[in-house]
Amino acid sequence: MKLILLGAPGAGKGTVAKMLTRIDGSVQISTGDILRGAVQAGTDLGTEAQGYMDRGDLVPDSLIMGIMEKRLQEDDCKTGFLLDGFPRTIPQAEALTELLEKLGIKLDMAVNIDVPRDVIFDRLCTRRTCENSDCQAIYNIKSMPPKKEGVCDKCGSAIVQRADETEKAIGHRLDTYNEKTAPLAGFYQGKGLLRTITGTSSEVVVDAIKKELGI
Ligand code: AP5
Repeated sequence: MKLILLGAPGAGKGTVAKMLTRIDGSVQISTGDILRGAVQAGTDLGTEAQGYMDRGDLVPDSLIMGIMEKRLQEDDCKTGFLLDGFPRTIPQAEALTELLEKLGIKLDMAVNIDVPRDVIFDRLCTRRTCENSDCQAIYNIKSMPPKKEGVCDKCGSAIVQRADETEKAIGHRLDTYNEKTAPLAGFYQGKGLLRTITGTSSEVVVDAIKKELGI
């Protein structure tokens, strides 16, 4: 499957993407995970991105397009991909349209996961993430705790709260989403690719996607 997952921070894009990868081997491509990995590794990309991320601002479009142009041409994308957190602005969406045309790739759809703001705020304050940049498993101390407190079930590394999960940064990320990313729903609606799924259960979202795809 070749999908874009749209939705506010905390809507569950990463959680749903990880569930979908188990269906047909499509890969999850999360620009947030790529950037956090770069910050942890101390690369030039990470140094440039860190300030924006910690404040809850978007990283410049040019940096993101540089990453995605390479990533989408890697071999593992041939089976399919789930774009999680990308595109995030109209210029990114326009550049992605051009890139996919150039590569001869057709998207199945753009899925907009619609979750109420109060649920989102609560989820983000209680989310924990594996600190191992090769794992980045997602937990929630209320709804999806690890088996052993503070330890990743999958790789045994520590699970931590992300640097952009302060109340101030979360509020700013939600405002940035409303201003810069929410308009993408109209962009993909105009291309006949948008499906909005309202629901707080990731299983319901995954089932609705499977139904749309006929799988
Ligand atoms: P990014 O990592 O993409 O963060 P985000 O979009 O803010 O999305 P999140 O990862 O916060 O949420 P999610 O929807 O994936 O939810 P999740 O499944 O984790 O981006 C971080 C930063 O990087 C940005 O602020 C920006 O600076 C930069 N960046 C990234 N991409 C960029 C781009 N394209 N352009 C420019 N800058 C970019 O779930 C959230 C929590 O809820 C978890 O704890 C989970 O366990 C829980 N949960 C999920 N589903 C359920 C459920 N059904 N029931 C109960 N709990 C649930």
